[in-house]
Amino acid sequence: MANVVVIGSQWGDEGKGKIVDWLSERADVVVRFQGGHNAGHTLVVDGVSYKLSLLPSGVVRQGKLSVIGNGVVFDPHAFVAERKRLSEQGVSIEPGNLRIADNAALILSLHRELDATRESSNSGTKIGTTGRGIGPAYEDKVGRRAIRVMDLAHPEGLPERIERLLAHHNPLRRGLGQDEIDAAAILDELTSVAGEIVPFMDRVWRLLDERRKAGDRILFEGAQGTLLDIDHGTYPFVTSSNTVAGQAAAGSGLGPGSLGFVLGITKAYTTRVGEGPFPSEQDNEIGQFLGEKGREFGTVTGRKRRCGWFDAVLVRQAVAINGIHGLALTKLDVLDGLEEIKVVTGYRLDGTTIDYLPASLSEQQRVEPIYESFEGWQATTAGARRWSDLPAQAIKYVRHIEELVEAPVTLLSTSPEREDTILVRDPFQD
Ligand code: GDP
Ligand code: IMO
Ligand code: MG
Repeated sequence: MANVVVIGSQWGDEGKGKIVDWLSERADVVVRFQGGHNAGHTLVVDGVSYKLSLLPSGVVRQGKLSVIGNGVVFDPHAFVAERKRLSEQGVSIEPGNLRIADNAALILSLHRELDATRESSNSGTKIGTTGRGIGPAYEDKVGRRAIRVMDLAHPEGLPERIERLLAHHNPLRRGLGQDEIDAAAILDELTSVAGEIVPFMDRVWRLLDERRKAGDRILFEGAQGTLLDIDHGTYPFVTSSNTVAGQAAAGSGLGPGSLGFVLGITKAYTTRVGEGPFPSEQDNEIGQFLGEKGREFGTVTGRKRRCGWFDAVLVRQAVAINGIHGLALTKLDVLDGLEEIKVVTGYRLDGTTIDYLPASLSEQQRVEPIYESFEGWQATTAGARRWSDLPAQAIKYVRHIEELVEAPVTLLSTSPEREDTILVRDPFQD
């Protein structure tokens, strides 16, 4: 298996950015295949922190090719801003190290506005989105009226595309009591930024096919997590893309046979940002402890993340849905010092015991977690770089998680720092 797909097995923020950055040393190409700048991936290299939203986490390493695949919704203004921010940190992003799929759909300011309107307090449909226009942009993509990256290279075709888009959006805006948008304003928004995007544009499916044939190692970087998946997540409290491993193929233009090892990034406890069911949530001093020790604040919006115990039911479901071959278990160090650690092993629903998360929202809201209790450890795991440095109780916890979720731990992360990572099995060699 020469390639690796990294996906989140919970509700996002599992530490995908750190693991992708660490693994990218062994890869040649790093590809984003869904989502957009709703993602917030933090990497820490020698004490310096890099925050990435739209760009693949491989950009920080020299000599790697980063790719934004067709499955991503691409905000050109966010790209320009992120590129500038990173260049101020000494990370250079040029057409030589980044390519953007010509067939990716764009996020425009009207998408951001619509996202904000729907999320406003009186809309009755609040999801707690990141406000980046992700949902509205995907709606336009499947509605076959999106403006795409390639359209920026063909300005003569833009007026027709814009007309098609506004034929949908202006009636919608009128219904919401908002001003209509003038086609000239969108044309201006697009033409002003086109010159900064077009040099990066590429036929990504062909580029990846060539790299694959040349024997290059490809690392696919998922954003969000399985429980935010549009099909498999806690619908409607989800994001608007497929976040599961299967999307790595469709969202980049490579066949599913090229995906290789599926690595599920998994936090040693659980967090979620935004609204929606969360069976093991601890809205108490435990949640506060995890949030403070784990610094659980959103990278994108700065919102406080909700925290709770590890839920083996959810992760076992994610193992099945993604075909996870191995886990990268992160933030074990956050549990250091706890007297007691709990893990969800099943749910009670209307008097019966179940071993899965039901698809219905009302059932998801009603399930009562069944906990198993573990003795914690007082020694520290923070910064451990060898398995043998871990306290016996911590090893016991990890081993038990492997059994409960039916997948082995392939990597273990013990701090935000790149090198504070224990390799159990190399996923590229598997
Ligand atoms: P992502 O969205 O999955 O990439 O995760 P985020 O970057 O949004 O959130 C994970 C946070 O935890 C980041 O601030 C990381 O620096 C940090 N982090 C990653 N791995 C570890 C770990 O093993 N221990 C601790 N304490 N922090 C970690
Ligand atoms: P990373 O890649 C955690 C959540 C939002 C909201 C829902 C829909 O950093 O793990 P959206 O703006 O996508 O329409 O919001 O999804 N969400 C995330 N939560 N991590 C993320 O990304 C997320 N991206 C979106 O909070 O509940
Ligand atoms: Mg994040």
